[in-house]
Amino acid sequence: MRVPNHIAIILDGNGRWAKSKGMPRNYGHVKGCENLEYICEVAKELGVKYLTVYAFSTENWKRSREEVEGLMNLFRNYLKKCIKISKKNNMRVRVIGDPSAFDEDIQNRIRELEEFSKDFDELHFQIALNYGSRDEITRAVNRMLEDQRQGVLTGPVTESMISDYLDTAGIPDPDLMIRTSGELRLSNYLLWQLAYTEFYFTDVPWPDFKKDELVKAIEKYNERDRRYGGVKEA
Ligand code: FPP
Repeated sequence: MRVPNHIAIILDGNGRWAKSKGMPRNYGHVKGCENLEYICEVAKELGVKYLTVYAFSTENWKRSREEVEGLMNLFRNYLKKCIKISKKNNMRVRVIGDPSAFDEDIQNRIRELEEFSKDFDELHFQIALNYGSRDEITRAVNRMLEDQRQGVLTGPVTESMISDYLDTAGIPDPDLMIRTSGELRLSNYLLWQLAYTEFYFTDVPWPDFKKDELVKAIEKYNERDRRYGGVKEA
């Protein structure tokens, strides 16, 4: 089985999963977070080099106050705990998105984690927080304009220059994108980076997405590679 170099995941279905168990939505997010820790280990074990997950979108601020607060506390705890996890998994952690909207302490934890893990290189783990692809592209274009004003950037603009201004600069594009829990849309996730990526959708909600489900997704990816010949050795 050829393992994709970079897997991107939309972690969907925590809320519905919790509801089906008669539990509050935030319980679903707690279980979703535990599953994320587990899937990082599985990904590393399988030899995946890059894993990028959509944890909080620019749209997610519109959820109830209670849910947003619950998610913020989850991020707080996880970002702290992730210092140890990053060492254990030899995993570099980066946050993509615009962290400036978060409380100062969360922003500090992001900086600490990125700094602490910067030399780990077995798994590159990207967490999309306050992320939206259109927002990312808009911020990139504004930085390009600023650099042009400063004389640092001269045209004509190329595709690779645009890639270099995105939050994912230096990170290869995903080979496989997985969305859990039945929805068939991209929800403003990595629009530029997913241009040539294979998509895999499953009805399984994120908290139930275990190793066998990930392997199934990778097997599907392998079948498609064979059919279309776009094979990449990983
Ligand atoms: C989507 O499920 C999930 C989210 C908006 C949050 C994802 C967060 C986690 C998996 C946990 C925390 C992650 C980190 C990095 C600490 P949903 O609420 O949209 O579910 P629904 O579609 O069933 O309502």
